[in-house]
Amino acid sequence: MLLDLLDRAAAERERQALVRSRRLAHSPCSVRQAVAPVSSATPGGACHPQPLLSFSSNDYLGLANHPGIVAAFAEGAMRWGAGSGASHLVSGHALPHRQLEQRLADWYRPYIPRARALLFCSGYMANVGVLTALGSADATLFCETLNHASLIDGARLARAAVQRYPHRDVAALDAALAACNSPLKLIVTDAVFSMDGAIAPLGELLELAERHDAWLIVDDAHGFGVLGRQGRGVPEHLGLASRRLIHIGTLGKAAGVSGAFVAAHETIVEHLINTARTYIFTTASPPAAANALLASLELIEGSEGQQRRHALQQRVGELRAGLVPLLARQVADGRQAWQLADSITAIQPLIVGDNAVALALSRQLEEQAGIRVGAIRPPTVPEGTARLRITLSAEHGQDDVRQLVAALRKAAAGRAAP
Ligand SMILES: Cc1ncc(COP(=O)(O)O)c(C=O)c1O
Repeated sequence: MLLDLLDRAAAERERQALVRSRRLAHSPCSVRQAVAPVSSATPGGACHPQPLLSFSSNDYLGLANHPGIVAAFAEGAMRWGAGSGASHLVSGHALPHRQLEQRLADWYRPYIPRARALLFCSGYMANVGVLTALGSADATLFCETLNHASLIDGARLARAAVQRYPHRDVAALDAALAACNSPLKLIVTDAVFSMDGAIAPLGELLELAERHDAWLIVDDAHGFGVLGRQGRGVPEHLGLASRRLIHIGTLGKAAGVSGAFVAAHETIVEHLINTARTYIFTTASPPAAANALLASLELIEGSEGQQRRHALQQRVGELRAGLVPLLARQVADGRQAWQLADSITAIQPLIVGDNAVALALSRQLEEQAGIRVGAIRPPTVPEGTARLRITLSAEHGQDDVRQLVAALRKAAAGRAAP
């Protein structure tokens, strides 16, 4: 019975071009990575890794395999061992964890008065932990429509009432807040939308929070390390400052390691330590990872981080300069245009619409040009908006971007006219 059901679900996924499969990396995370080809992703497929030029990771600053950070990880492991051995509240909380929390609290105190920081094992766990711990039965969560799955799941698990507001629609949120008489109102949003690259109107959301006596929970997974002069993410980039800001950052993307943190008013952090189930009931991350992250933070806020952010911005400009005219030509030819999302961040999605088209395009880039870009399909993105999620890294060079633009130009030229 179960297996029949699952077989039917699998056949339906196949029919809709929604099958997901894993790819096997044969070398460390990098923009040039040896990856087993698509055919070997299926069980029993042959496995001959190919070097691919990758535009598909979240390693925006190219730190995942940075020698200084790898060395800090190794030193941390030599000093602290491989694992933490227990949850933070039992016996797993070690000196590098505390140093990292203190460092992160220093980073965010200019934006959140009396801020403390708390580490979680992943961004997913931080989001679920914060929403379930703060989203009590007498609260209402106001959730952006395009929020990440981890925020959606956190809202589902919380006992609070949930209202969704349309993407970046400040007026709709204003009206919803005004009409709500919950004693506790929490606005919940991605800072940089993970599949679009757009930045939420956080200044305006914070203003709404102040006016309606609400709090603003911001998931800065894709801004941390990348935005702001010192890489402190959206608070620095937009100059946000309020005790109503509850800031979540992830440490496995631009920071190059793994984990996440919440920076918030000390009373909130103390509440999370005592009530967030994804904090309490899980083994603490290895202290060695915290040691590596201390090195990563130092690099991010210093001159090397600034140079890397500058290089990343250059690549973003070059990619857009290459693709915008190409897309304009499609419109002039009367073809259904692909759309480049309106984004200034490292996430530069090319929206093609149809699931099968996105998948075929991703395969074509890989097989014909040795370029890897992931095809993102529903339910990760809304129906009819399947896309290539192009992500740029400070590690990419100008020639890498030129290669991608040329391959997309070729693919666009091969599309049948209507
Ligand atoms: C916006 C956003 N939030 C949270 C997460 C989860 O972070 P982590 O990978 O650390 O669990 C992701 C990861 O894809 C994300 O894109």
